[in-house]
Amino acid sequence: MSSMKKKPILVVGATGKVGRKIVQQLLQQDPSREVRALVRNPDKAQKLFFQNNLKGNGNLIKLIVCDLGSPDHKVLNNAVEGCDAIISVSGCLRYSKLSDFLPTRLFSDAGNEEFWCDDDRSHPYFVNFKTQSLLVDLAKKHKCSRFVRLTALSAGYSPFHPVSIILSSVLSMTSRHHFRFEQYLRNSEVPYVILRPGGLADYDRDAEKTYVRVNPCGYLPPTGRLSREDVATLAILSCQQQQHEGRLLDPESNYTLGIGINDVVKQGIKGDGFATAEECLHYARDQCDKIDKTVQDKYYGVAVGIFVYSTLIVLAIILVMILSYLCCIGSNDAKSFLRG
Ligand SMILES: NC(=O)c1ccc[n+]([C@@H]2O[C@H](COP(=O)([O-])OP(=O)(O)OC[C@H]3O[C@@H](n4cnc5c(N)ncnc54)[C@H](OP(=O)(O)O)[C@@H]3O)[C@@H](O)[C@H]2O)c1
Repeated sequence: MSSMKKKPILVVGATGKVGRKIVQQLLQQDPSREVRALVRNPDKAQKLFFQNNLKGNGNLIKLIVCDLGSPDHKVLNNAVEGCDAIISVSGCLRYSKLSDFLPTRLFSDAGNEEFWCDDDRSHPYFVNFKTQSLLVDLAKKHKCSRFVRLTALSAGYSPFHPVSIILSSVLSMTSRHHFRFEQYLRNSEVPYVILRPGGLADYDRDAEKTYVRVNPCGYLPPTGRLSREDVATLAILSCQQQQHEGRLLDPESNYTLGIGINDVVKQGIKGDGFATAEECLHYARDQCDKIDKTVQDKYYGVAVGIFVYSTLIVLAIILVMILSYLCCIGSNDAKSFLRG
């Protein structure tokens, strides 16, 4: 085992459903390596890592408490310093507010969010973009060997794709912030692996029946729910040095992988895909660097604007028609009443 491998790994979002599996798998794989767990809720982390299932390995977990919405730069710097790799699986879920759809907000330039959502630090602009970008800067400063980030399949879709429009409209332009962060990472010179899953599931994949799909172009059509256990394994293997000849990713290359499973409703179709995470990465390794790095920005604001404003116009027309109909009925009733 090389000394590089024994350097700590930082898991950002360690108390999340994927994050806790990553911590668990890391400790099982290499009981001598420290895992730095970046969490915002120390009580939750205590319960998860020190009282429950990870009892016994607790001395290898170093808790770092930090809210990604308003991070302390010093804390983040100390968390990254000396780490071999960063696996970032944090993410926030914020439902859109009506004021988010003001034209000045929807159609503004990238980064303009800073001025209008500053009082809402749980916004994905801060949690999924701004602080993640800061982590990338620190990874560069401290020469981390890999930055692994979990975004979402929708980041690979056109902003005008129905899935993208719905997610962006409901969840505070979540795809925009994932995509924008991906672009930041691509331009950072930090070696990276971006994993883009579709829906995630808590149950384990039936390995006898269902394979994991991986697309090195970062795209997959909407897929069935991929087990969080599989995502955790893919994330860990993505930042490990090559163990078996040709099995893991090339440390010099960068990857953006669409990941999912075959069937949409329930497990039971093998089709294309791979039985194990290792085989997925082996395939990706052969096909790496296929993503177009010249893509600059996507027009999420325009897509959501067209959808929201045309929906409002249609609703307004329907309302006017209903009101005129009711007025018509009302005046007919009044006439027949007067006649009678
Ligand atoms: N769920 C899906 O179907 C799906 C699909 C595609 C992509 N993804 C992506 O995958 C990520 C991981 O999925 P998951 O199921 O593990 O989600 P999760 O259980 O909600 O985990 C999200 C993690 O991010 C942390 N977090 C959120 N806001 C934070 C903040 N301000 N400061 C510090 N930590 C913060 C949470 O901390 P707490 O533990 O304290 O809450 C949690 O640990 C998602 O966040 C999303 O970006 C999910």
